[in-house]
Amino acid sequence: MAQQYDVVIIGGGPGGYNAAIRAGQLGLSVACVEKRRTLGGTCLNVGCIPSKALLHASELYETARKDFANLGIRATVSLDLPQMQKQKDDSVTALTKGIEFLFKKNKVDWIKGAGRFGGPGQVIVRADDGSEQTLTAKNIVIATGSEPSRLPGVEVDQRRIVDSTGALALPSVPKSMIVIGAGIIGLELGSVWRRLGAEVTVVEYLDRTIPGADAEIAMAFQRSLTKQGMIFKMGQKVTGARATEFGVTLTYEPVAGGPAQSQDAEVVLLAVGRRPNTEGLNLAAVGVTPDARGFIPADHFKTSAPGVWVVGDVTHGPMLAHKAEDEAVACIELIAGKAGHVNYDIIPGVVYSAPEVAWVGKTEEELKAKGVAYKVGKFPFTANSRAKVNHEAEGFVKVLADAKTDRILGVHMLGPQVGEMIGEYCVAMEFAAASEDVARTCHPHPTRSEALRQAAMGVEGWTMQA
Ligand code: NAI
Repeated sequence: MAQQYDVVIIGGGPGGYNAAIRAGQLGLSVACVEKRRTLGGTCLNVGCIPSKALLHASELYETARKDFANLGIRATVSLDLPQMQKQKDDSVTALTKGIEFLFKKNKVDWIKGAGRFGGPGQVIVRADDGSEQTLTAKNIVIATGSEPSRLPGVEVDQRRIVDSTGALALPSVPKSMIVIGAGIIGLELGSVWRRLGAEVTVVEYLDRTIPGADAEIAMAFQRSLTKQGMIFKMGQKVTGARATEFGVTLTYEPVAGGPAQSQDAEVVLLAVGRRPNTEGLNLAAVGVTPDARGFIPADHFKTSAPGVWVVGDVTHGPMLAHKAEDEAVACIELIAGKAGHVNYDIIPGVVYSAPEVAWVGKTEEELKAKGVAYKVGKFPFTANSRAKVNHEAEGFVKVLADAKTDRILGVHMLGPQVGEMIGEYCVAMEFAAASEDVARTCHPHPTRSEALRQAAMGVEGWTMQA
């Protein structure tokens, strides 16, 4: 007998588990199908969370080695990589268990195995031991996420040529690492291994870093990483990687034309984007067809098949855990007959490097392309007292506001812990704030957040701190 539910969700990552929990909260009977041994998907198991654990630990290691003496602290510092990896794994385990607890609390059934469509309203789940069961539901939500994109000629073996998963679990610090791709993954994980002692070279196709971020911030960020010792080879197309006795030989050539080059490294990290995960879903059984790039098209999370919904990386939009979470909640609310909604204009982006990069809303390039008249307010962290006394005064805040209405259109920051502060502008923009609203809001002194206010004051030219 098939088990019957109001909602079946395929995938237990940020899209899937948030959908499942919200469905439980709203009193729907719900099952979440996940083939991994733990819940949380890529983000919790091999993505956002473990990378932040290593970013945090490696930043402290570098601070202790390089900055303690200046602060008047004497310490002998050495690296214990197995312990650094263990504390990362412990955090991941605790957080995945936390989701299991939330599933129980909200009466979500976790069905272990790989899900595929059997026909309309039907999901067949194949367990590790090969046994199968069928679930039926009026509503099925696809939340299968994404996986690292591959590059022809660069064969990932998770030893010498790794993707993000392999780069999170290296057993020792490589002497040298080449990162292919100057996107968020490449620059975050490249930062980790550079801080721990690797010589890191980034080979990037474009002439700028972090696609999608404001170009001025991206350039300042690249300068900052260069100062820290990262080497950039921009405008280069990788053509192949060959494993050798000692490591890897990578070949690349200028995009603009010119002679090919090769470079050796102990480890190569492939970080050229992610692709939607639809393999093995048997979408044909419900008549859903992915687009040319493999994404499942949807209108307000509804696919072309009745009762089949989609959220997260596997459909269009930024491939970010918080976008998936918001879509998951809105999708379930629509299924439950409520008014679910996602504001795609206000989805922040963060690079968890040091300094951090954070942004929300439109970039200057987007505003120029659309012909929108805008004003700019800027404030450097060198003029912020808290950042200054903490010796972390690199970077700046840039606020873009509509020239006529003063409504905030975009905010872009490079600086200390700006990822923790961008939320202030997300809330302001959600409330359709003008830059003057932020400029006239009292902020505590001395804090880094004053730089956010000062940048807003800069839109009308009355910045005060210097
Ligand atoms: P990405 O798309 O952000 O960057 C990939 C880079 O690789 C691009 O700059 C591209 O021009 C370059 N590239 C592509 N082919 C190349 C070639 N043949 N040779 C040299 N360079 C080449 O992808 P990334 O960094 O892998 O991240 C994937 C997704 O995961 C992104 O959507 C990202 O936003 C998300 N993510 C977000 C995080 C966060 O929010 N902190 C952390 C990690 C990932």
